[in-house]
Amino acid sequence: MGTVTQQPAVSVNRLRESGLLKTQGLIGGKWVDAYDGKTIKVENPATGELIANVPFMGKKEAGDAISSAYSTFNSWSKLSASERSKCLRKWYDLLLAHKDDLALLITLEQGKPLKEALGEVAYGASFIEFFAEEAKRTYGDVIPPTQNDRRLLVLKQPVGVVGAITPWNFPLAMIARKAGPALASGCTIVVKPSEYTPLTALAAAELALQAGIPPGALNVVLGNSSEIGDALLESTQVRKLTFTGSTAVGKKLMAGSANTVKKVSLELGGNAPCIVFDDAEIDVAVKGSLAAKFRNSGQTCVCANRILVQEGIYEKFANAFSEAVKNMQVGNGLDEGVAQGPLINEAAVEKVERLVKDATSKGANIVLGGKRHSLGMTFYEPTVIGNANNEMLVCREEVFGPVAPLLRFKTEDEAIRIANDTNAGLAAYIFTQCIPRSWRVSEALEYGLVGVNEGLISTEVAPFGGVKQSGLGREGSKYGMDEYMELKYVCFGNI
Ligand code: SIN
Repeated sequence: MGTVTQQPAVSVNRLRESGLLKTQGLIGGKWVDAYDGKTIKVENPATGELIANVPFMGKKEAGDAISSAYSTFNSWSKLSASERSKCLRKWYDLLLAHKDDLALLITLEQGKPLKEALGEVAYGASFIEFFAEEAKRTYGDVIPPTQNDRRLLVLKQPVGVVGAITPWNFPLAMIARKAGPALASGCTIVVKPSEYTPLTALAAAELALQAGIPPGALNVVLGNSSEIGDALLESTQVRKLTFTGSTAVGKKLMAGSANTVKKVSLELGGNAPCIVFDDAEIDVAVKGSLAAKFRNSGQTCVCANRILVQEGIYEKFANAFSEAVKNMQVGNGLDEGVAQGPLINEAAVEKVERLVKDATSKGANIVLGGKRHSLGMTFYEPTVIGNANNEMLVCREEVFGPVAPLLRFKTEDEAIRIANDTNAGLAAYIFTQCIPRSWRVSEALEYGLVGVNEGLISTEVAPFGGVKQSGLGREGSKYGMDEYMELKYVCFGNI
């Protein structure tokens, strides 16, 4: 265990003093409680301590947030692109100016180590910076006409009001990745953050107000997921729904959007294969798979879920990888040197336990870990499982925990077959020094993102999103802007 650098009570006081510990929802620029006064606790997953109580809102508050986003749409979308860009740039500056407080909030309510939380603030802010710039580049088109007396134009216009439902694993970055392009394109937005991590969302919203993003352009409602979700789905004023979370919920939201024919973006679960070929550089493969597996204690959609290792390098890789995993310090994310925080809740630990039990009952062996950590709470030991295969639940379900199953394979074709044998298709990783193989395998993998000799590939400048049941649409990058814009064809006749 490292030394405790900050006690949570001290941390919460620091946040209170900074003005960033907001504990109400934001509707039309006003901080409000739930109309019936109901609240829900936000607790630190590392200690179980109460951080704050926040409103438990429902249909009525969501309806008011939608109305406020709807009535602000006209003025916000009519601002020039450079005016919107300036507001977003200011928001970016403020996010960075408050990076330490935001990171502290993320660690307190989500559990990831402070260093990683600081990384998330930089990552989240980068989307606001990128889309502040991109706001000025929503070019349309001029199409050569088929008749000389005509001129054909394509305009890009904002979709309208956006509903954004965001997860707990990246309390800031997933909001930024949606609110950035939505606001940049001229849309207004109603955000429903996870009930586990609402405080970071509220702090970010406070900074958006300070940045001059007008009241009503960005609203945050917290609480009853199904009531708020239904309000967003049923409203004809909400023209776009964007969601990051589980595939099961994503399917329901997609079906629920049908009635009002909303534009939908879904960033859903993954089952990332990480393929280590015999010709991989071992240090690069260990470092890359470690990063891809254990980021946020395995709680990301792009985390390596299955590590496929070719038979010639299997023992060497398994030993080096396990040695590196053994050295990872587990603990409260506020403590110096901690690399692995707690899981988000008891249900997450129970899921990991169920998957590990299933794997061992089907012939896998525990190389390292394999049980709850002696720290108690929701801490789980970083775990390596040997001799796993694709029939085990740990390889079929998204683990979302610090468990690395190693699967042995013989040939490139076999690795591709195993890797693609899943309904998911978000991220995949390959480690090889052979350039033709890296091309061949990248092309053959049925995934939206592929890392070659790299385990951390997310960036604001590249498109993020999956194929198959991992989702629809792309976030980040120039492509991410299109998700919030409609194309309008205008034909000028009689010229
Ligand atoms: C996620 O886990 O949903 C997002 C991960 C990332 O942006 O890298």
